[in-house]
Amino acid sequence: MPKKILIATSGGDCPGLNAVLRSFVKRASLEPEWEVWASLQSFNGLLSIPQRLIRLDKKVVSGIHVKGGTIIGTTKESGPFNWPVKQADGTLTYVDRSDEMIKICRYADFAAVVNIGGDGSQKMSQRLFEKGLPIIGIPKTIDNDLCATDLTFGFQSAVDVATEAVDRLVSTAESHNRIQILELMGKHSGWIALHAAIAGGAEICLIPEIPYDIAKIKRFLLERFAGEKPFAVVAIAEGAMPRGGKAMGTKMHANISDKLAGAAERFASELKEAGIESSIRCTILGHVQRGGIPVAFDRVLGAQYGVKAFEMIKEGRFGHMVSYQNSEMTAVPFTEAIRQLKTVEPDSYLVHAAKSINICFGD
Ligand code: F6P
Repeated sequence: MPKKILIATSGGDCPGLNAVLRSFVKRASLEPEWEVWASLQSFNGLLSIPQRLIRLDKKVVSGIHVKGGTIIGTTKESGPFNWPVKQADGTLTYVDRSDEMIKICRYADFAAVVNIGGDGSQKMSQRLFEKGLPIIGIPKTIDNDLCATDLTFGFQSAVDVATEAVDRLVSTAESHNRIQILELMGKHSGWIALHAAIAGGAEICLIPEIPYDIAKIKRFLLERFAGEKPFAVVAIAEGAMPRGGKAMGTKMHANISDKLAGAAERFASELKEAGIESSIRCTILGHVQRGGIPVAFDRVLGAQYGVKAFEMIKEGRFGHMVSYQNSEMTAVPFTEAIRQLKTVEPDSYLVHAAKSINICFGD
């Protein structure tokens, strides 16, 4: 009898997902008693009728490490704890199908389940583990906001895309003497904006962890303009806020994370209200940061995550997430992985370095 593993990718897609799938399957195939199956569109494939499961073998995953997205699909909008059911009036209610999912896994003889995902997905895995499912996690998100791991795969790829956008905006800002505002993803953390601002040489970096004071930014800009540099590039995280304000966006219900949007436009209005007369343009980089091929770093990190995940299953280390710490692969309990979001520390050396090269945070 083969030992079967079920693997799923959950939440938003992210560069490097296919690299993880490939390395997991290649490592598993070194031991012929193991079989890897994938549930399509996260666990929806398992819970659907008919089921949508596919066998992953070396042939299926051959060469996929260079592809963006995930070959097994993903979703953010449903899951075993919040399965949407359409009502007669067209509205959705959400039901808990987690017990049923665990029964299905037992019935199908899945000896282990792997959930590749971000913060919300690791929380889901912890709840399934508490109910008795032998499950492990792999940390994925461009936001890099998962604690208990130094890095999530996908982040580096997003930073490269964001940095290229800063680079491109610098030359057009300079040509037109404009302020170019670039809104970047990251949810309630500023990792992408901070890294792109440093790498690309943005003058201003606004992140949720350091609420900004528009008066201080005005002073910074006027000083810069007086020094014969009448242009500026601003890297603003989608979750950034002025002092005393809140992140811009739509508050979703408990099952779906908030949609953040509008930080750049709000900041542009605040600059105008403060009397900054320059011409201002906003760019929302959006899902460009999530799509496309993973950079080499994410492929290498992903390869290690996949191999380690299989080895954790063999050791029976369920209830844990693979973690990258001090350049080594290790495992941390889900409880540790979901304890809190990892956000930028305002007193960190990274922020100190950014300030030392004259990046203004408006604080
Ligand atoms: O978590 C990844 C992420 O790309 C965030 O940076 C962003 O806020 C969110 O997902 C966007 O979600 P959606 O794909 O649902 O628009």
